[in-house]
Amino acid sequence: MKTKKVSFIRYPGGKQRILNYIIPFLPSSEMIKGRFIEPFLGSGAIFFALNPERAFLTDMNRELIDLYRGIRRSPLKVWEIYKSFPKTKKAYYEIRAIKPAGRDLTFKAARTLYLNRTCFKGMWRHNSNGEFNVGYGGEDRRWVINQTVLKDVSDRLKNAILKCSDFEEVIDESKKGDFIFADPPYKPGERELLHSHYVYGKFGYSEYQRLERALKRASNRGVKWAITISSHPDILDLFGGNNIVPVLRGTGEKPGILTNNSGEVIIRNYKERLQ
Ligand SMILES: C[S@@+](CC[C@H](N)C(=O)[O-])C[C@H]1O[C@@H](n2cnc3c(N)ncnc32)[C@H](O)[C@@H]1O
Repeated sequence: MKTKKVSFIRYPGGKQRILNYIIPFLPSSEMIKGRFIEPFLGSGAIFFALNPERAFLTDMNRELIDLYRGIRRSPLKVWEIYKSFPKTKKAYYEIRAIKPAGRDLTFKAARTLYLNRTCFKGMWRHNSNGEFNVGYGGEDRRWVINQTVLKDVSDRLKNAILKCSDFEEVIDESKKGDFIFADPPYKPGERELLHSHYVYGKFGYSEYQRLERALKRASNRGVKWAITISSHPDILDLFGGNNIVPVLRGTGEKPGILTNNSGEVIIRNYKERLQ
């Protein structure tokens, strides 16, 4: 199986560091006959690791989708603009204050990438006006990426469809042969909402019910899927009847710190790896 870690953005709830605990429960790209669909894309850790032939990648975070689109179209131009942004705290707040609406895709992508790599701990949070409002974190993580990484990201996205969308519409478009990997925000009241990590932080129980109904409709069409999720009793009850396995390592009480038995599970509508 061809797996390669691509880590070009920092993302709350990102799965890069626990890929080895998730990938063995998913089909390899060769086993996916239709499209690989990821409706809560985030940093795309699973997409990049599986490296599927055909992918439908979506997220409700518009800045994130524009970041992927910008890098796909012009990785080197994004890199040039990114590189030109100064490293100081003063510059960070000036660039953060620029309104992205109306700017070209390349500039928007470079600005988002810069904010992500320079802000405090890679958080992604907006104020009530929809403006990115995470404070300055220093530049120490900024040069972990380079133009080769962005070119690689661009190449891998060439055959993908990227869309800013709510998950339900995307899941409802799936057909037999497609495979869905879903990594929704965790149940509110637990750490993710507590730390306001998500752009659209209010992913309440009714959202999980909506997700479960959409996945059930997909199952009825012969679509295979897997989700990573909190093992909160309400969630386990909601998804009862599916195959549930614990994820042996994940983020614990403290954001960003990996622990054993973090309470996450993988829920799948199949038992064995797909043939
Ligand atoms: C746990 S993160 C995904 C992390 C990703 N698996 C990774 O490895 O980086 C959840 C994502 O769901 C997105 N999201 C939240 N509500 C959504 C909705 N209703 N429809 C689609 N995406 C949503 C957030 O923007 C966030 O990117």
